[in-house]
Amino acid sequence: MKNFAKKDELQQYLSGLKADGAVITFVPTMGALHQGHLSLIQQARQLGNIVVCSIFVNPTQFNDPKDLEKYPRPIQDDIKKLEQVNCDVLFNPDVTEMYAGNEKWHLDIGELEGLLEGKFRPGHYQGVTQVVYKLFNIVKPDIALFGQKDYQQVLVIQKMIDLLQLPVKLEMCPIMREPDGLAMSSRNIHLTADDRQRALVLSKALNYVKDHFSPEQVDQLQQEAIAIINNESGVNLAYFEIADGNNLHPANKNTKNFVALVAATVGKTRLIDNMLLKIDE
Ligand code: PAJ
Repeated sequence: MKNFAKKDELQQYLSGLKADGAVITFVPTMGALHQGHLSLIQQARQLGNIVVCSIFVNPTQFNDPKDLEKYPRPIQDDIKKLEQVNCDVLFNPDVTEMYAGNEKWHLDIGELEGLLEGKFRPGHYQGVTQVVYKLFNIVKPDIALFGQKDYQQVLVIQKMIDLLQLPVKLEMCPIMREPDGLAMSSRNIHLTADDRQRALVLSKALNYVKDHFSPEQVDQLQQEAIAIINNESGVNLAYFEIADGNNLHPANKNTKNFVALVAATVGKTRLIDNMLLKIDE
């Protein structure tokens, strides 16, 4: 695997490959890689010739400085994992390579960035679009892969691509879970054994809604899911919402694609999860 810390060197390398007709696929990450990230790399392998992964813990998307400070950074382990799944190129810049000092600009993609996660983490998606825009400009991928785990992030990036007419195709990849249902996350290592057990209530509530879903019962199911989560001690619910999968507005009678989204703090760790809901015909 080629490893670049400098954007100019990466760009020079990739432009040669592009000139030879290579299809570049790109998986942006913040590292502390787990099977969820690696599944994106594996999917990327299927879709193109050259797989680029970035590892960059982006300071502008953290609204809590403590969260940024304690974000895990096991770079040597990450490199090994990327080599095991045959990633071609790693881009691992430091902060000064990505930001020229304290950059104040941001993109405004409209109301989507202020809903759900955006409401609880003001400025978070502005940090995400800022860094992904920069990364797209450096890598110039044909296809970029993002996980459904961060469903709202997928919609936000797709909106940015549409508004700025960026020449990149976005692929959404399924959520990888532990055998007991917990969605894989770099933050799971912060859970104590008790928290780890309590955290299962999130996927349990999502599965409950999925198993009982009918569009007429959205409000009731939402209340039941909230009750399931509130019943678990040590779990502090931020939101559980059954939303329109296209715009994340609360689901209504015109909604065709439903998604249930949840965020909660378990012990000291904030977790998010979601599930797509199918209507049984
Ligand atoms: P990070 O949290 O490292 O996630 C990188 C990618 O892995 C995202 O697209 C995320 O949705 C995906 N991912 C995480 N957990 C997953 C799981 N259990 N199953 C499937 N995919 C999963 O998301 C970010 O980084 C950042 O916001 C970033 C886009 C890199 C911008 O800084």
